[in-house]
Amino acid sequence: MAPTANLLLADLASSGVKQIPSKYIRPISDRPNLSDLQISDGSTIPLIDLLGLNGPNHSLIIKQIAQACKNDGFFQVENHGIPEEMINNVLNMARKFFELPESERLKYYSDDPTKTTRLSTSFNVKTEQVSSWRDFLRLHCYPLDQDYIREWPSNPPSFRNDVLEYCKSVRGLVLRLLEAISESLGLEKDYIDKKLGKHGQHMAMNYYPPCPQPELTYGLPGHTDPNLITILFQDDVPGLQVLRNDKWIPVNPIPNTFIVNIGDQMQVLSNGRYKSVLHRAVVNCDKERISIPTFYCPSPDAIIGPPKELINDDYPAADYTYVKNITRSFETKGLSKN
Ligand code: OGA
Ligand code: NI
Repeated sequence: MAPTANLLLADLASSGVKQIPSKYIRPISDRPNLSDLQISDGSTIPLIDLLGLNGPNHSLIIKQIAQACKNDGFFQVENHGIPEEMINNVLNMARKFFELPESERLKYYSDDPTKTTRLSTSFNVKTEQVSSWRDFLRLHCYPLDQDYIREWPSNPPSFRNDVLEYCKSVRGLVLRLLEAISESLGLEKDYIDKKLGKHGQHMAMNYYPPCPQPELTYGLPGHTDPNLITILFQDDVPGLQVLRNDKWIPVNPIPNTFIVNIGDQMQVLSNGRYKSVLHRAVVNCDKERISIPTFYCPSPDAIIGPPKELINDDYPAADYTYVKNITRSFETKGLSKN
């Protein structure tokens, strides 16, 4: 590798390379088939309207959530209660952050996954064999008594304020979803909330620069999320794909809509009724793409297992010890169980 190699992908990508460096090239057996996608039949993950969740449509919506968690492990939500302006502000902050001069961004760079705030690239540069076409900023957002905010970028100047407002609002949505999901499993509404101890909330800002050879690499290779539940916002550039019946289904952006997916720990908690499903991000030659996942987790000392009500002859207790204590994002654990 040249001694002047860029630490961050954005600076390599913007230098006008026509061919991607070999470390980004996947083996032939593991490449995204982008042409296959274009002929996809238009099917995608369910879209659920949360408007009537506390009203007359309550039981219908709970049923829709149950179906989606069982069949797809993924759904989209509209009328989720997070103001559009708040979402746009945070998207703007992400965009502006990744536009900062390299020297400014590098102040946040670290390849140590245990750091609670850091900018990095690919997935885990210390352990992986092939790199991914992504830079990302990771932040811890809850519990706030840890005062993570002082570690967050202070440039752009309204970053902390805008991101904090967004985190609080997303947490509100997560808590409503956790109640709905508890209910959809036939548990008390506050069952999951109580199981999580003090709770934990992390977020990422994923930045996928345009890629001159998108058919050779991934923004993120197929993985499941090891946390409890993920709430992702993506900008208007497609790239997310979800595995369904052995086919990669695109989840194309719908404005002002969040994508919710079941993580490994929810699969455990539901004793396998709800599925933590493989998904990945592909890149394209023309446009940068930003996505902002919030990873919601139990607190590190909580032990997650299925309640006895969810263990029966149809769903015998599964051996989930392998995920018992995964409370951080998959970044710290490697691609967990693919
Ligand atoms: C993730 C993830 C998908 C995307 O960060 O875990 O799956 O579209 N991201 O960026
Ligand atoms: Ni993911």
